[in-house]
Amino acid sequence: MMRLSGVLAAAFVVLAIPSAANAGDAAAGQAVFKSICGGCHSPVAGKNFSGPSLFGVVGRKSGSVVGFKYSPANLAAGLTWDVATLDVYLKAPKEKVPGTTMVYAGLKDDTKRADLIAYLETLR
Ligand code: HEC
Repeated sequence: MMRLSGVLAAAFVVLAIPSAANAGDAAAGQAVFKSICGGCHSPVAGKNFSGPSLFGVVGRKSGSVVGFKYSPANLAAGLTWDVATLDVYLKAPKEKVPGTTMVYAGLKDDTKRADLIAYLETLR
C-alpha cells in the first residue's frame, strides 16, 4: 500500500510539472513587475511613464512604441522582444542593449525572471 501511494504521488508530480521547461508563474510575475518595473513602466496600452508601455511587449519590435522618446541605442537595437530575447535582456539590460537609458541593473534570479516574463505574456 505504501508503495502504491508512492507511485501515485510520483505520477501526480510528473503531471503537475508545466509542459514548457521553465514556464513561469504569471501571478508571481505580476508581483515582481509591480515591485521592480511598475515605477517606470505601465502595463496599460498607450501609457508611457519614464519607460515605454509594456502592453503587448512580447512579440513586439524594440523601439516601436509610438510617442515614446527612446535612446538611439534602443531605437537601433533591431530586436524582437520574444521570450528568449527578454530573458537575456532583463538579466543584464546594458549588455544586450549597450547605451540603453533604462537604469536597471538586471534581474539575476532565473525563477523571478521566468515569472516576470510569464506575466508580460498576459499583457495583450
Ligand atoms: C528606472 C526606470 C526603469 C526600470 C526600473 C525598468 N525600466 Fe525598462 N525601460 C526604461 C526606459 C527609460 C526604457 C527605454 C530605454 C531606452 O530608450 O534606451 C526602457 C525600456 C525597456 C524595454 C524595451 C522596450 C521597447 O519598446 O523596446 C523593455 C522590454 C523593458 N524596459 C522592460 C522592463 C522590465 C520588464 C522591467 C522590470 C524588471 C524594467 N524594464 C525596469 C526604464 C525602466
